[in-house]
Amino acid sequence: MTSTHQDIPAALAQTLRDAQRIVVFTGAGVSAESGIATFRDALTGLWSRFDAQALATPEAFRAQPDIVWGWYEWRRAQALRANPNAAHHAIAALARHVPELLVVTQNVDDLHERAGSARVAHLHGSLHAPRCSDCAAPHTLSSSVTEEAGEGRRIAPPACAVCGAPVRPGVVWFGESLPADAWSGALRAAEQCDLLFSIGTSALVYPAAELPQRALAAGATVVQVNPAMTPLDRQAHCNLHGGAADVMPRLLAAAWPAL
Ligand code: OAD
Repeated sequence: MTSTHQDIPAALAQTLRDAQRIVVFTGAGVSAESGIATFRDALTGLWSRFDAQALATPEAFRAQPDIVWGWYEWRRAQALRANPNAAHHAIAALARHVPELLVVTQNVDDLHERAGSARVAHLHGSLHAPRCSDCAAPHTLSSSVTEEAGEGRRIAPPACAVCGAPVRPGVVWFGESLPADAWSGALRAAEQCDLLFSIGTSALVYPAAELPQRALAAGATVVQVNPAMTPLDRQAHCNLHGGAADVMPRLLAAAWPAL
């Protein structure tokens, strides 16, 4: 079933009303309408403008900590300035209508939480939870970002209060494992849910992209929300081609018109 932005299929609204356990799997596209850049969109995606190997690997941090820390501070500044959009709010509202809902996000912003989602698993870590690069002690950052944080600026990482080593961003870099608790909880939820939404993700980055596959294999209905096609289009039961901030509120209204 493929749907344009005009219609939400009645059968999907019914599936949503009947669902007992929902997983909402999100990627950068869910925050796009909050002004946060995605990774792979042509021209605007971060990986079309920046070299991932030079910014998002442990080797890059060891070689040029100031460049890497400065880049993540620039992204943290954007996230702090951004506000949750209608998609984040609709996902938080959806949780109030179903017995069990887990948000599993690849995003490192905190816009799901700021919209009111209580159960959020962060598969790729968080911009807001840095830790020591050596002893892993958590480091508290101020909720504002230094004036220096602009695109391409070098900023020296703070020193760990426990051991003095440089503090690193609390995100997952290429070549690193996902946080074990978040990943095992997400896998369990995907295998036990009756409905999984894949929203605003290119569904290209593994192991995260395995989640819709696990849900499909376990017999769940999989619904994708994305303005563009992804490899998941062929397998999803329903593809809603549109922006998340447009589609998600309409989906909620179709399922619960009295809202
Ligand atoms: P991508 O940039 O790969 O994909 C973003 C997706 O969002 C694309 O499929 C877009 O079509 C879609 N999109 C754009 N605008 C949208 C909108 N308004 N509403 C809905 N969808 C929209 O981002 P991710 O799939 O999140 O990893 O990327 C996965 C991981 O790759 C990221 O977590 C990051 C990156 O490298 C790490 O940094 C470890």
